[in-house]
Amino acid sequence: MQPSRNTADTFDAVVLGGGVIGLSVAWRLRQRGLSVAVVDPDPGHGTSWVAAGMLAPVSEVAYGEERLLGLNIDSARLWPSFAAELEELSGEPSGLWECGTLVVASDPGDRAELEALMAFQNELGLGSQWLSSRESRNAEPLLAPGIRGAILVDQDHQVDNRVLIAALLAVVRRSGVVLYGCAASEIEISEERALGVLLAPGPGCPKKALPAGTIVVSAGAWSSQLKGVPERFLPHIRPVKGQLLRLLGNPEQAPVLGRTVRAQVNGRHIYIVPRLTGEVVVGATSEEMGFDTSIRAGAVRTLLDDASRVVPAVDDLKLVESLAGLRPGTPDNRPLIGPSGLDGLVLATGHGRNGILLAPLTAQLVAGWICDSSEPPKDTSPSRFFATRHEARLEPR
Ligand code: GLY
Repeated sequence: MQPSRNTADTFDAVVLGGGVIGLSVAWRLRQRGLSVAVVDPDPGHGTSWVAAGMLAPVSEVAYGEERLLGLNIDSARLWPSFAAELEELSGEPSGLWECGTLVVASDPGDRAELEALMAFQNELGLGSQWLSSRESRNAEPLLAPGIRGAILVDQDHQVDNRVLIAALLAVVRRSGVVLYGCAASEIEISEERALGVLLAPGPGCPKKALPAGTIVVSAGAWSSQLKGVPERFLPHIRPVKGQLLRLLGNPEQAPVLGRTVRAQVNGRHIYIVPRLTGEVVVGATSEEMGFDTSIRAGAVRTLLDDASRVVPAVDDLKLVESLAGLRPGTPDNRPLIGPSGLDGLVLATGHGRNGILLAPLTAQLVAGWICDSSEPPKDTSPSRFFATRHEARLEPR
């Protein structure tokens, strides 16, 4: 696409959704010279705000998901330069902490499963290493004495999601992206082409149309709810609920952990993500509950019980927040990045558990498609569902 000009409220690209994906896409498009707007009623405060921010392609790898792994590794490699550029251009910290990850086994059954997982990781050439219980506790002294060993994954890191959001908001504002703190009521379509976005009227939001050369959908779990788009062009996205907790240690003291700890506790998965500020994020459930974001007492209890089985010092931290976010799930757990099938409508959504990890790669692929017509890789292409998406929607639920 040739950049045009930004006349009043007309843009080369309008990005729907101001989470980490939408802001990263907007930033990259603006860097290519396009006039860009982001539409989001509360930019940065959706699922990205709830996330733990793990950059964990290796420790989160799942059997049968090798193609997702390839995308995750490609994006993990982009993270250091993405963060450095973001810091330079925003003047803010990016939140990246290259701290590594330990994946801890709580009991003998967990150990057997993690040893099998490590064998799978090493078959894929991922270079994981087993640590005995004693070695694990040398690496992380506050691990419980009864743990059964751990996989050391030096290349999996983390980013403080809220620090990252502040930096992305700063860089998009500095670069001249226009932020509309409004909801989108409808996509305007004519003759099978998306033409623009209609803002929903509300406080501070006049009823207004934003004509756009391209509309990018980065609306996370809400990406299949776009009004005005014919059903056959809507992506298959479902919300996958994750409840998590934010705890706080004494910021004057060293963090309780020096790296991210994931663990398997009686077959359940948990993560304990320390921040340099003394904050600790404990998560997360994975539930098919539609758009429910209520916090359940049982989930809080299980998260805390499992976390304190692995790191007993968690009991002494202050519980400051309990949250639930909605991951945008796709049928094959891979994202949807590229043309939607409707002219003028591009997807950058469906990132499931990996939104923050995949942000640099997604932004690069979307900019490549819109600015240079470079096809995104087949593994991300929305076209893999074109044949089935209409039929699937008609299936009885
Ligand atoms: N990637 C962590 C989560 O989705 O809970």
